[in-house]
Amino acid sequence: MTSWRGLLDSGYRSRLPVSAATPTVSLHEGNTPLLHSPHLSALTGCDVWLKIEGANPTGSFKDRGMTVAVSRAAEAGAELVLCASTGNTSASAAAYAARAGLRSAALVPASGVARGKLAQAARYGAQIVAVPGSFDDCLRVARQLASAPGVALVNSVGNELRLAGQRTVAYEIVDALGSAPDIHCLPVGNGGNITATWEGYVAYGRGLPRIWGFRAASPQTEATAIRIQSPASWEPAVAARDASGGLIESVSDTAIFAAYRELGRHDGVFAEPASAAGVAGLLALHAAGRVAPGQRIVVTLTGNGLKDPDAASDYAVVDVDTFAGSLAG
Ligand code: F0G
Repeated sequence: MTSWRGLLDSGYRSRLPVSAATPTVSLHEGNTPLLHSPHLSALTGCDVWLKIEGANPTGSFKDRGMTVAVSRAAEAGAELVLCASTGNTSASAAAYAARAGLRSAALVPASGVARGKLAQAARYGAQIVAVPGSFDDCLRVARQLASAPGVALVNSVGNELRLAGQRTVAYEIVDALGSAPDIHCLPVGNGGNITATWEGYVAYGRGLPRIWGFRAASPQTEATAIRIQSPASWEPAVAARDASGGLIESVSDTAIFAAYRELGRHDGVFAEPASAAGVAGLLALHAAGRVAPGQRIVVTLTGNGLKDPDAASDYAVVDVDTFAGSLAG
């Protein structure tokens, strides 16, 4: 068996915007598990598969686009990789910048970024810049600073390099299943990933799913990865929705966190809260009688649960005697 060396060197290089002159900046991202879910399949009467993007090197799907964006930034002679982020983009950008020997800086909301993501960005050597306000404010500032010399802005908004990398998730799914699923569910923040996922199926030409995207209903959602007021890539996201005959709806935090728990408890998959929005949405639509049985459904779980330990801090710990007593009973 040959070992996997990432999207640029083992995966889908011919489909990515790189040339022979582009250096490969990779952490061997991609090739993530597509895991069947007996639990969700039984619940919905469908054939449900989970695409575990938290298995990427920095723990989220962002690595797919970042290998392309930072490889090209290195080729172009950039000195500083800059991004606005709710956390995952900053961790990914910082890791790939470190790998390329470039500096990185992340503009993040002053509050509401999951602890694991900041810890990652710090260890990868990023300068972490706290911006008063929301992600939307961070992106505005990032765009203002992006014209400084030597700066490569790596947000996905209008960024063909990031989107091209993120399309590979659809290629992997089609290669694993043999054809596109009937439905593909995923969380929506800025709308970049729903756009890239749809474009990936179109580009691969082996069937098209309906795309079901789910936003957080609350602008102050505790699923902080998708705490975004005005999605920066809304127009292409809506175009993807409409071209696929799909939908974009909202899910409550109650539903998101119920799905988050259920994924851990029943599937053995610890995904971060925002990641569970696709499952929450699927279950809500099923409860409303809007999911016909027998369909093949893929749900993207966008990030790893370890990124947000505070979201999982409500567990009980018993002492040894209590535990031993419970066994004797
Ligand atoms: N899931 C996770 C875990 C994310 O981190 C994000 C976005 C999304 C879903 C939504 O993807 O924005 O392409 O619609 N995180 C960005 C960040 C905003 O800064 O890490 P989208």
